[in-house]
Amino acid sequence: MSESRPIYLDYHSTTPVDPRVASKMLYYMTTAFGNASSIDHTYGDEAEEAVSQAAIHIANLVGSSPKEIIFTSGATESINLVIQGSIYTDVITKNKHIIAVSPVEHKAVLDTCYALAKKGLAEIIKLQIDSKGRLDLNHLKQVCDKGISLLCVMAANNEIGNIYPIQEIGQIAKNCHIPFLCDASQAVGKIPINFQEYGITYLAISAHKLYGTKGSGALAVRKKYHLEPIIFGGSHQKGIRSGTLNVPGIVGLGEACRMRQLEMEEDEKAISSKRDKLQNLLLKKIPGLIINGDPTSRLAGNLHISIPDIPNSAVIARVRSKLAISTGAACSSGVETPSHVLQALALPNNVIEGALRIGIGKFTTDKEINQAAEILSTAISQIRQAMCFKI
Ligand SMILES: Cc1ncc(COP(=O)(O)O)c(C=O)c1O
Repeated sequence: MSESRPIYLDYHSTTPVDPRVASKMLYYMTTAFGNASSIDHTYGDEAEEAVSQAAIHIANLVGSSPKEIIFTSGATESINLVIQGSIYTDVITKNKHIIAVSPVEHKAVLDTCYALAKKGLAEIIKLQIDSKGRLDLNHLKQVCDKGISLLCVMAANNEIGNIYPIQEIGQIAKNCHIPFLCDASQAVGKIPINFQEYGITYLAISAHKLYGTKGSGALAVRKKYHLEPIIFGGSHQKGIRSGTLNVPGIVGLGEACRMRQLEMEEDEKAISSKRDKLQNLLLKKIPGLIINGDPTSRLAGNLHISIPDIPNSAVIARVRSKLAISTGAACSSGVETPSHVLQALALPNNVIEGALRIGIGKFTTDKEINQAAEILSTAISQIRQAMCFKI
């Protein structure tokens, strides 16, 4: 990051586009700009070939077949396509459509489920978690044993960074013959995922979390599973998702996946040691600091902290010109609501209100880690002084 811009430590929100990805995308915007559905000239052929290659790169990274990949505008759309597109059989048969969700899922999952429930189209069961955000797998198994229509569990959480035992969950779902939607937006390109072997039915992918662009994503759909489309017109992608393909976005996602497959292991090791360094510096410099989530199973780049009794808004106000971190709170219509994830963990209010999410990525430097620790600890001691706060 350039010296004049704030240090960017919000990689869960979005990542910068890898310049190698951007340069490949540029070629498909300015030179090979054809429509992948144009069958009458080579511009179309070239675009179609690029899309096929992208599907191969994505499939290679997540362990699916390229034929199982559907391109979307991002994980939100992929998730909507699964949750809305799989109710049709139960609507026809008038069977109860029951969706079991983890309470710490992204709003793309939860709000889509609530929207269906509000229309009387689905019943929602919340899975149980503990104060570290770990899923109770016994409860999950009991719920699956009773028979449900869809199970939704994310691979990794976008706030506290917990990595969930997707392979084990996939096995439970498979044994109970339950379709399993795994939102892997935060996990793809960071941890190994094997769509085929893990028993996942639907895997949601977002390009802008793995150094691709915003507005591009994919959904892996297991063979023989049918989804009703939610977008009509043009019958693109076998009619499951109509609309002219976003060729540069798709090429970017493919290239980002190719890069992740080559570099993930090494990058994530380096990211994890930077996170540990920042965590140690902050623990040393900020008395009373708490680490949220499951420290034994979390994303390498995640550091979710709370400084109880120090409102996160006060911290953000002090650091925002120098440091880009997040409160993790959802902000809609200018009204900030406490994070549903932290509420689901049933953390005390002063811990929720003092929560800050830090996301480290492959472009984060050691120098930035040191500076961030200094900026944050200085801001907090200034706030404490201003509040005459004593530990
Ligand atoms: C876990 C998770 N799911 C879904 C999404 C939505 O992804 P997209 O921005 O591609 O729609 C995000 C993005 O914030 C996320 O972190």
